[in-house]
Amino acid sequence: MPLILCLFSVFLFFGFSSFLLGESKENIHLKGKALYNGAGSCVACHMPDGQGQPGSVPPLANSDWIKGGTDRSIAIALRGLAGPIRVNGKHYYSAMPPQLLFDNQKLAYILSYVNQAWGNQERVVTEREVAEARERLPQAVYTPQSLLKKFPFDKKLNRKNGTFTPTYDDLITEIIQPIIYRTFMPGASPAAFAVALPGNHYFCWDAGECRLRYIWTKGGFIRNNQVHWASNGKPVAQFNGTPYYRARTTKLLGQTFDQLSKTNNKQPIYDTSQADNFPITIKGIEDKPSYLGYRLINQYPQFRYSLGKYLITELIRTNKDLSGVQRTFSLSPPAPIKFTLTPTEESSISCDQGKMNPDGTLLIKAEDSARFSIFINPKKESN
Ligand code: HEC
Repeated sequence: MPLILCLFSVFLFFGFSSFLLGESKENIHLKGKALYNGAGSCVACHMPDGQGQPGSVPPLANSDWIKGGTDRSIAIALRGLAGPIRVNGKHYYSAMPPQLLFDNQKLAYILSYVNQAWGNQERVVTEREVAEARERLPQAVYTPQSLLKKFPFDKKLNRKNGTFTPTYDDLITEIIQPIIYRTFMPGASPAAFAVALPGNHYFCWDAGECRLRYIWTKGGFIRNNQVHWASNGKPVAQFNGTPYYRARTTKLLGQTFDQLSKTNNKQPIYDTSQADNFPITIKGIEDKPSYLGYRLINQYPQFRYSLGKYLITELIRTNKDLSGVQRTFSLSPPAPIKFTLTPTEESSISCDQGKMNPDGTLLIKAEDSARFSIFINPKKESN
């Protein structure tokens, strides 16, 4: 073999890029590893083994975003990335801030390490490449769309990777204070409220019929971009969960409710089948309940309604350990009440006054009626 060809293969063997950095691959790897694992570096989120964190931070190990995409990785590190992405077939909907701690050289070491750690087989990244990208790339944080437009996947990866359309579950956020919407809800009269409580319990309260309709916790709150006035053919707010408590109705049985809550209803279903069957009965009172409005107590809604000459208030909060919902009632003037709740497989119901019968009825004595609380908790299996 002529000498020149021989030298050329040696050159190839040690790698073109590492030659440019003037360091051995091992050195680059070691320096990059130390920087990757340093305080405040990538490790904080992507973890030492590059596996990320389930559901919140995608893996760098064998990531198909890294394959053949060194320019893309440089861009992500320099400008950040926010939005729904799919990595190795899994969904993430989060944000990575621009990594501003590192100068060009350090970032080149880190990215070179990432490119070759944990089974990744990409090339070494040079300081110069990072410097040029830092100069050249637009300042805004990338969205998955804008990033992939500029740095597309190869055709092979295209189909199974990239972005995705977020669903309710991807939009779940931790509720820290009550959110109250007046909106059309499935299975309620047109005068319904959708309320989200801390601990992520959500309920529908029907002002048209002065009663709690249902409570759910899985699957997130109603989509808040769905405006109740919208005449887009889908006037009913949608949500993705199955209620764990549901007031007894004839039309809305377990399964059908789940379907109802998930489908795009063309028509709201106003279930008035129980209008004559109010859950609170007081002897001698035949009147229908009449809604008087609500007020906020520490930001929690307290609904007020009358039944004949009686005033009832109902304050709905999450209970202390956020495991379920606490409904606190007051009746004035006091009187004995029969309260009809709906026992379900999915929840347990209890009261701080009086004893719940297995059929869901609760007898409250006059002296307890001025203030009593009912607790509704999802059972473990349905949580
Ligand atoms: C604060 C947490 C955090 C830090 C620090 C961080 N990342 Fe990320 N990274 C994320 C998140 C979250 C995403 C997904 C963003 C999204 O959902 O749109 C991501 C996505 C990525 C991606 C594309 C997806 C994938 O898994 O391949 C790469 C590449 C990446 N990060 C590299 C890095 C590198 C290199 C560093 C260090 C220089 C770093 N990240 C530091 C949180 C972080």
